[in-house]
Amino acid sequence: MENLRALVAKYKADIAAEQPTTPDAIEAFRIKYLGTKGLLKTIMGEMKNVAPENKKEAGQLLNDFKVFTENTFASFTEAAGTQTNATAVGIDLTLPGTPAPLGTRHPISIVRNKIISIFNKLGFAVAEGPEIEDDFHNFSALNLPENHPARDMQDTFYISQNPDWLLRTHTSSVQIREMQKGTLPLRIICPGRVFRNETISARAHCFFNQVEGLYIAENVSFADLKQTLYFFVTEMFGADVKVRFRPSYFPFTEPSAEMDISCLICHGKGCNVCKKTGWVEILGCGMVHPKVLENCGIDSNKYTGFAFGMGIERITMLNYQIKDLRLFSENDVRFLKQFESA
Ligand code: PHE
Repeated sequence: MENLRALVAKYKADIAAEQPTTPDAIEAFRIKYLGTKGLLKTIMGEMKNVAPENKKEAGQLLNDFKVFTENTFASFTEAAGTQTNATAVGIDLTLPGTPAPLGTRHPISIVRNKIISIFNKLGFAVAEGPEIEDDFHNFSALNLPENHPARDMQDTFYISQNPDWLLRTHTSSVQIREMQKGTLPLRIICPGRVFRNETISARAHCFFNQVEGLYIAENVSFADLKQTLYFFVTEMFGADVKVRFRPSYFPFTEPSAEMDISCLICHGKGCNVCKKTGWVEILGCGMVHPKVLENCGIDSNKYTGFAFGMGIERITMLNYQIKDLRLFSENDVRFLKQFESA
């Protein structure tokens, strides 16, 4: 054992002193230590001379030595490999790298982030939900029972495996999920992608992005809704923009309204974007229907709430004067790089 220990210590010192860098020197190292007639084999042969009671200790010692030798050899080849490859193809490893160009944010993301940050100021938190929904969350709970004619307002993509599943047509489904959690008061906005079976054109697409909002507490009134939306419009489009509400119909709100803003392009004079009316519709809204609250287990005698929903594409088109909706999903870099850097 004494001899063996001394031998291993000597070889380790020898190996540590070796610094082969050329392929030939590294190969010589391999033959000397790891080859079929190399030192490792020879020293392994010493095992038969070790007394039985020392076999375990000797085995451990030799095995450690083997691992040490192999690792050292691997580190030589790796270092030399990088160096020779680089030299062979004429690369100077000390040169700085080529910088990767920074991308730009998608205009839809820019506008969505702005909408979110405006409502954050009013205490609305972001809530998200699944794009594949069931009938209950997308329709029934929102006071659209089966065969309700208003279901035709939104042409729906159904999932063929299960007639109960569909691609959500609005993010109102997320509002149902949040109301079901039962934590009140509730103040959320729900950004997300929604799907409707529409023919793709400059003004319509089979998917688009929405931000819907919901506020439920005691004594929430239509005045609160208007004030919230006035604040949004001022922050989003500036203080000069005019607002008007028109009565409308949604099964899940009562009363319901649509909100128009004065046209950002012609400032109310009349142009193609506002179809010569001076106004553009940007969102639907209303007081949450008591039946919707009850469907989610909320006491409609105690709580009231308002909801609103808008399409991000529409607002983005107005903001940047983009005339074709298809540009948003075609991923043409020439279009995309015109917007703010990431
Ligand atoms: N969910 C409606 C839509 O997608 C928008 C809306 C939301 C209307 C909330 C009123 C209240 O068209």
